[in-house]
Amino acid sequence: MEDRRTAVSITDRVDLELDDIQSGVLHERPSPYVGTYLLLRIDDRAAGRELVRRLIPLVDTGRPALDPVHGAWITVAFTYQGLAALGVPQESLDSFAPEFRQGMAARAAQLGDVGDSGPANWEEPLGSGDVHVAIAAISGDADRLRALVERARRADEGLAGVEMIWQQDCYQLPTGRTSFGFRDGIGQPAVEGSGLPSSNPKEEPIKAGEIILGYPDETGELPPMPAPEVLGRNGTYVVFRKLHTRVAAYRQYLRQKAASRADAALLGAKMVGRWQSGAPLALSPDQDDPGLGTDPHRRNDFGYADDPRGFKCPAGAHARRANPRDALDDDGGVNVRLHRMIRRGTSYGPALPEGVLEDDGADRGIIFVFAGASLKRQFEFVKTQWLNDGIFIGAPAEKDPLVGPNDSSGAFTIPTTPIRRRLQQLPPFVVTRGGEYCFAPSLRAMRWLAQLAT
Ligand code: HEM
Repeated sequence: MEDRRTAVSITDRVDLELDDIQSGVLHERPSPYVGTYLLLRIDDRAAGRELVRRLIPLVDTGRPALDPVHGAWITVAFTYQGLAALGVPQESLDSFAPEFRQGMAARAAQLGDVGDSGPANWEEPLGSGDVHVAIAAISGDADRLRALVERARRADEGLAGVEMIWQQDCYQLPTGRTSFGFRDGIGQPAVEGSGLPSSNPKEEPIKAGEIILGYPDETGELPPMPAPEVLGRNGTYVVFRKLHTRVAAYRQYLRQKAASRADAALLGAKMVGRWQSGAPLALSPDQDDPGLGTDPHRRNDFGYADDPRGFKCPAGAHARRANPRDALDDDGGVNVRLHRMIRRGTSYGPALPEGVLEDDGADRGIIFVFAGASLKRQFEFVKTQWLNDGIFIGAPAEKDPLVGPNDSSGAFTIPTTPIRRRLQQLPPFVVTRGGEYCFAPSLRAMRWLAQLAT
């Protein structure tokens, strides 16, 4: 859990209807955490509505707690097929964003989910059209999680027309890091009205409408919202992706390209934009600074404008691509604030023990979770324009070195003087195992769904 108590900006200029918003959207997960994702299929409309009715009391809302030992909570989201299975009128279904209606599998080519990452190779039932309801249960405590998951599972008990079709457990690795060895979940925007201040004093909280539907966004407009209002308002789109990480391949690649262990750590940090500890290259370009990496007041307090050529942090580094901060604002008019997102990723699978270079065949990686008001302008834009393409940084052939769809022909430029360094033949280190575009409705909307009459 990132402690934001002393950060600067106050984020209460907007009245968010916090009691109606699922708290998983605004609430940071605890650290350490354990969690479970459950996917369900609705075969019978009435049973599906009864499921929604039973899930309502389990969903947590309200002002996000600053207390890191928050109990346990679940978030419930629906795919387009799920809303259709519940009997949401066609007129209303048509009012959802086109990308959501198509679903993630249909967007695979645009997203770079091809080859091993293509839907034909996805884990069943992801992308099959059978996924209707997605439930995420997260807690700081295994016993509380077990009790909550038990309650969630009981919600479909005796409902012949609802079936649990997939379960994925997740947990924070003992290192507190993700499978590649890096601390994750640091760079997050603060949301106006959430009550949580910004961890980056250089970034004003983003407008509530960037994340929660029904409020003005950064353009001053209300973003397109599904109709009727009771269904759309206080909801948010959610992207759920199971991303397998090829940790042995990553370590082998670094071993092959680096002159020493220290050099391998540096190359890894250049690829990510942060050292494994979480310390940003922008503040500590030459060596890791674990104290900085764990200091919530300093580790996100930076921009890139003073490093236009990327000598400290390469423009192609993952975190700088995913959030270029002030590096783009005056350059070409790209408004970075229109492409921010809430991330709620978690780790799954066992860690590959330190120093092991051979693949042990285990499935490990990240359940990447995005929350935001626009699949297209936020998740898809960042994925396609910034991670999968290098035009915006003047290196069209370069994809994200860590998470981009590289095919062993890609390159990554590390500006250094007198001669830049180039990593060649980048293989893919991340394989998409599947995912879904979902919509996490408000509590009021869940009640509306449970009571649909047609
Ligand atoms: C397996 C895949 C991925 C891994 C291992 C990964 C890892 C990381 C790490 C280590 C950081 C730096 C720590 C932090 O700021 O939280 C980071 C930051 C970030 N990542 Fe990823 N990431 C993955 C996929 C993605 C994808 C698919 C997206 C978006 C489409 C994304 C968006 C971001 C964003 C927005 C940041 C924060 C940048 C900032 O505010 O400075 N990541 N990621």
